[in-house]
Amino acid sequence: MCGIVGYIGSRDVSTTLIEGLRLLEYRGYDSAGIAVAATGGEISMRKRAGRLANLEGVLGELPTGSIAGIAHTRWATHGAPTDLNAHPHMDEHGEIAIIHNGIIENYAELQRELTAKGHTLSSDVDTEVIAHLIEDAYQGDIRLAVAAVLPRLHGQWALVVMHRGEPGRIIAARREAPLAVGLGEGEQFLASDPVAILEHTNKIVFLRDGDLADLQRGGITLYDAAGAKFAPKVETITWDGAAARKEGYDHFMRKEMDEQPRALSAAMLGRVSVDGVAISELDAIAPALAAARSIEVVACGSAYYASLTAATLAERLLRVPVRVTVASEFRYDPPALGPTSLVIAVSQSGETADTLGAVRTAKAAGATVLAIVNAAGSSLTREADAVVLLQAGTEISVAATKSYTSQALVTLLVTLDLARRAGALTAEDLRSWSTELLTIPAMASAALDSSDALPAIAKKYFGSSGFMFVSRGAGIATAFEGALKLKELAYIHAEGIAAGEMKHGPISLLGADHPVVAVVLNSSVLPKLVSNLMESRARSAPVIAILSGVDDWSTFATDAVVIPAARPEIAALIATIPLQRFSYEMALLAGADIDQPKNLAKSVTVE
Ligand code: AGP
Repeated sequence: MCGIVGYIGSRDVSTTLIEGLRLLEYRGYDSAGIAVAATGGEISMRKRAGRLANLEGVLGELPTGSIAGIAHTRWATHGAPTDLNAHPHMDEHGEIAIIHNGIIENYAELQRELTAKGHTLSSDVDTEVIAHLIEDAYQGDIRLAVAAVLPRLHGQWALVVMHRGEPGRIIAARREAPLAVGLGEGEQFLASDPVAILEHTNKIVFLRDGDLADLQRGGITLYDAAGAKFAPKVETITWDGAAARKEGYDHFMRKEMDEQPRALSAAMLGRVSVDGVAISELDAIAPALAAARSIEVVACGSAYYASLTAATLAERLLRVPVRVTVASEFRYDPPALGPTSLVIAVSQSGETADTLGAVRTAKAAGATVLAIVNAAGSSLTREADAVVLLQAGTEISVAATKSYTSQALVTLLVTLDLARRAGALTAEDLRSWSTELLTIPAMASAALDSSDALPAIAKKYFGSSGFMFVSRGAGIATAFEGALKLKELAYIHAEGIAAGEMKHGPISLLGADHPVVAVVLNSSVLPKLVSNLMESRARSAPVIAILSGVDDWSTFATDAVVIPAARPEIAALIATIPLQRFSYEMALLAGADIDQPKNLAKSVTVE
């Protein structure tokens, strides 16, 4: 979502900040801005709606010789994406520049109070009130002024602030929104996502909720929520900054789709052997796992669908209720939770506000929280009791691809390991599972190859009034994900439904211009699914089938993509790969912005 970069040091400040913003573009934004402080303290600001190029067009107007600066990409929450509403925001005297990720929930009340005191607020955004509150609280030390204002704010924030009277100093604070400090030699960096600064330093301090950081060229000082100083915990990040480059691909999405065999292999490294599945990260919570009487899985969007893939299997093997709930519902209306509840939170970014909210609800109720997450060092990894990392590598495209298949795989691995620990699988069962699991990377490669049939199929059906994605059993999650991908990438209406539900209403939509996309897996419910597809054909709807372990399709499908045969939970995750390609091709035909679809952000850090 919004991105923050800050810098103090002797490099060219605006170039360093803009390079950082460029690396955060993938998170989604609709305006951008920058403020730089000169040695004498004067703060100059430029902001523009639209792409970074618009901002770059006015950078030449900034004075040279600055020593510190802050920059932002904004994804609008309060107020339209205009030049005026873009960050930074300043007080009316141009002394304080502030950037903010998050939402100030009591901003209207604060705005009224400030206006009554004679302040003039010029934008529509919640952030501006903070600049004015700091102006009122300032008595010569910007850190103390920020610390005095924070208790007045309700909501979430990652804040960075500069004051004209204190050049070469940046104050940063966070609550429920990510912010990291990068340490250099005689220079310091700030970023909402370390990917923006990794080219300059891999020494990162992740701020925790309530922390406040005072950055000066020579070093940083950290304060906790109570105002006490504490020593920074410096982490050395080993992520590959090169992942943020397209390396010859037209789009990050296509590159990340092709990375799936490697990502799936990395997800199993050290966890799957010929003898079975063992995830050492679960050892730390082994007593809670043994005591668990219910499992609640929480996630959003694609992560939610990925979590559905193995849920039925988990309940069947573990013989405890397993429920998968969208985090935005769970957080405010949770089921009965307590010390015998295991809550599994699944997220690529580890920063999704709703998922973090659900985790906090679960922890407050005494549940044990296991996180399945891609981004090491993210908020979710710090709040959970145990963490299993996906190991998929950085995912830049807004559309989840390799993170989806990795999430589906890792939730399956966790299910199998829980079953092993509970004695619910024999050694022979485990060997049989692991033999098939170890072929997943090869199956993913084969699915990428067979997806080459999809450009022609997409062309044939582009222009249809809508698409219905259907399946039964484990494939339903894949159908949901296929529909989401088509909507978000190509802006075409699509619905994912359990095939047995078609006759209860949705079948009315079907016809020659409303195809069905079917995930056809070889399972006990295959004959039932085939009947549903025959019903669709009887109503002239074309049926595009993704087939695993099913050879004879001519009676129920018009077009087919064949992927390797596998058991349903595995075939379901492999079947996602051709559906990703289908949406990608549709998006190309639609001329859509594939890596950054309109209105979307990679990591949804607001409710
Ligand atoms: C899907 O392509 C989207 N990017 C979106 O649905 C995403 O999966 C969702 O916002 C959850 O994100 P997370 O995995 O980072 O928590």
